[in-house]
Amino acid sequence: MKILVSGGAGYIGSHTVLQLVQAGHDVVIVDNFSNSQPAVIGRLEALAGRHLPVHAFDLLDEDKTEHLFATEGFDAVIHFAGLKAVGESVEKPLDYYENNLGSTFSLVRAMRRHGVDKLVFSSSATVYGTDQAGATEDRPTFATNPYGWTKVMQEQILRDIAVADPTLRFALLRYFNPVGAHASGTIGENPSGIPNNLMPFIAQVAVGRRERLNVFGDDYDTPDGTGVRDYIHVEDLAAGHVAALEALTSTEEPVSVWNLGSGRGTSVLELLHAFERAVGHELPYEVVARRPGDVAVSYADPAKANRELGWQTTRSVDDMCADTWRWQQQNPNGYDDA
Ligand code: NAD
Ligand code: WQD
Repeated sequence: MKILVSGGAGYIGSHTVLQLVQAGHDVVIVDNFSNSQPAVIGRLEALAGRHLPVHAFDLLDEDKTEHLFATEGFDAVIHFAGLKAVGESVEKPLDYYENNLGSTFSLVRAMRRHGVDKLVFSSSATVYGTDQAGATEDRPTFATNPYGWTKVMQEQILRDIAVADPTLRFALLRYFNPVGAHASGTIGENPSGIPNNLMPFIAQVAVGRRERLNVFGDDYDTPDGTGVRDYIHVEDLAAGHVAALEALTSTEEPVSVWNLGSGRGTSVLELLHAFERAVGHELPYEVVARRPGDVAVSYADPAKANRELGWQTTRSVDDMCADTWRWQQQNPNGYDDA
């Protein structure tokens, strides 16, 4: 298939682009580089062993989006593009609603005009709101912050569009906590500023960019008191997209929802200790107050994806830490070193 990957220069998009190429698909990337750097493209091309067409523009620009669809005949779209920082979304809700909903409107309008019927959408465990433990896809969706609401709303918008045109095939993939990096250590997660998320923060402590990890609370109702999450290796997540895309070519369902997670929970301290094993020494940490809005426990029930996609996670938490550490060591300042 010829696939448009929106946000293909980003963390999850870049790893997925590579697996799509390896699975024999033709890939075209669109990204405005608002949260990624052009340097990733050269690295991707080196790994893919081929040129990758990239269109650097904002999907909110409907004319440019239209022109792209008019000049390339796509079979499917994988839509990663979006803003994703929970805290920032509370500060700048309008930016989040405008960017995340607007980019989806622009893409889906162009798809409809040009007869592109398959879309894989990046959703999130955040749509389960405060009810994220052992989540199955039939749970009610709601959110606790503007970022989360953009995902709930985009899911609903896509469902409504699919009711109006039953020839469409949409996959809503609800990711749990993506971490890790490509085994080469040449592409990985590259947060700008102070990382919001646990794994990149630990990696920056390990490489000496941060003094210590702040553990946000150790008085949760969990085995060691720290928050429990379902970490999924970005390579397993990327494989889930390839499987979902292939499933869309044969399903009768207009909208398919799949959780992408391992089904296992890991605490903050367990992840820290796994990272210490990868690095070979202890890492400094301090327990501080809980972070507002955090849930105690989040993990997927991935049975539906296991059954319907023939997909499951294959990489352990130790693999996730080893691969993150290789990326961080080789690129202490991310793509700024490129
Ligand atoms: P990322 O920020 O690394 O990648 C997103 C990419 O989209 C960036 O390269 C950015 O420049 C681009 N982009 C944003 N708005 C755009 C626009 N209007 N036009 C063109 N390009 C635009 O994020 P990621 O971690 O790779 O996440 C990808 C998707 O998965 C996002 O939709 C995110 O909400 C979702 N998601 C991420 C996580 C996670 O923890 N990383 C978890 C669940 C869901
Ligand atoms: C994991 C655990 C923290 C940082 C977020 C979004 C979610 C999804 C994935 C997009 C929690 C603790 C963290 C630190 C810590 N994104 N922690 N010290 O919050 O589960 O999910 O990213 O859809 O929507 O909310 O991930 O990595 O931020 O936190 O103790 O410096 O680590 O309290 O228990 P989270 P995270």
